[in-house]
Amino acid sequence: MVYDNIVLIGFMGSGKTSVGKVLARKLFKDFVDVDSVIEKEQNHSINEIFDNNGEEYFRSLEQKCIDELTKKKGQVIATGGGLPIHSSIPENSLVVYIDADFDVILKRLPDKERDKRPLLQDESRARSLFEERKDTYRELATFSVDANQTIPTFIHVIVDYILDKRVL
Ligand code: S3P
Repeated sequence: MVYDNIVLIGFMGSGKTSVGKVLARKLFKDFVDVDSVIEKEQNHSINEIFDNNGEEYFRSLEQKCIDELTKKKGQVIATGGGLPIHSSIPENSLVVYIDADFDVILKRLPDKERDKRPLLQDESRARSLFEERKDTYRELATFSVDANQTIPTFIHVIVDYILDKRVL
């Protein structure tokens, strides 16, 4: 099977954007980040969109955005942590789950990054959200990578998988 795009999924702060940028460079693909595209199009931050229009509105923007982006091929696409839960990822995408434990994610995430995420403000609610979502992430993934290892190590694992299986 040859896929059109690589779509990175995983919990908030698991490193989808940083990993996606490196992956795209290594594989000579374009990189796009759904949250950044939405912020640019709406001219508001994710926090502002949640505050002004609510989560449901944000979810509808995510679905539109991933549908629009996947009309093109040859990209690495980083998604927000809730996108695969609330929206459907178009078929023909190689879905990679960045599978890191909740505590590893929290440890890696600087306060500045935590502040940008409305659903990460209450730690115990975020932990429950993580528990609720993790099986779905695994089920949706074409490939799950153990992201508790160092970031360069697991980027290597993803690149090897893609090149070995000749899926792009
Ligand atoms: C969300 C994750 C965020 C962002 C929004 C909601 C979620 O993206 O889309 O704050 O529901 O998990 P990151 O996964 O990049 O933090």
